Amino acid sequence: MIAGDRIRLRPLRDSDLPLLRAWFDDPEVMRFWGMTSNPVVDQRFAEDLVGRFARFEVAGYFAIDLPDGTTIGRVEFERLSTETRSAEVMILIGDRSAWGKGYGTDAMTALLRYLFHTRNLHRVSLTVLAWNRRAIRSYKKVGFTVEGTLRDDLYFDGRYHDQLVMGILHHEFDARWPLLRTAASDTSGPGSTAPA
Ligand SMILES: CC(C)(COP(=O)(O)OP(=O)(O)OC[C@H]1O[C@@H](n2cnc3c(N)ncnc32)[C@H](O)[C@@H]1OP(=O)(O)O)[C@@H](O)C(=O)NCCC(=O)NCCS
Repeated sequence: MIAGDRIRLRPLRDSDLPLLRAWFDDPEVMRFWGMTSNPVVDQRFAEDLVGRFARFEVAGYFAIDLPDGTTIGRVEFERLSTETRSAEVMILIGDRSAWGKGYGTDAMTALLRYLFHTRNLHRVSLTVLAWNRRAIRSYKKVGFTVEGTLRDDLYFDGRYHDQLVMGILHHEFDARWPLLRTAASDTSGPGSTAPA
């Protein structure tokens, strides 16, 4: 369990699959991920995700829970490299009624706290559609910087879309969130193996 201010992150589990599936089936949600149709069929969807839930060496998949236990989204890291001490992150709040309430910023900050303080990474990056202003605003609040533009990187809805690359370094995160640095020893987040 990784605690944010207003949310909790916990590893995804098999029982989350119906909710994950429902979010994937919502075109308004998935458009922000550049997906306008179902990316996988039912059986593959489950197989693809369940196999990943137990691994935390190079990738970790977390549910975003409110204090009352309601699951509103998912946040994850992938391609964690202990050589370059880097990883890529993604976030999806699938419950549209939970958008714009600060939960996404809190969840991403909690994940970065885990990646920088528990996994001792140097750099974390992400890509975001250039028109996704709510996401970009949220990432900037976390401390990410725009590093470049991937021009015409995706094609959907009959046109090409630019993506921005955003990144944050460990020392930038500590400068942005100094109190989290001093609280680092309090965290009970998962280590390099699956958390309990
Ligand atoms: C992107 C996402 C994770 C952000 O989480 P969130 O909880 O909605 O965002 P927050 O409330 O923490 O912050 C959003 C900020 O953007 C601002 N914002 C909202 N809509 C905006 C818009 N159209 N233009 C500019 N800023 C906007 C909000 O006012 C807020 O900033 P503020 O706190 O300074 O007022 C979430 O909305 C989400 O998952 N959306 C759908 C999927 C998605 O876009 N995923 C990211 C793909 S890269």
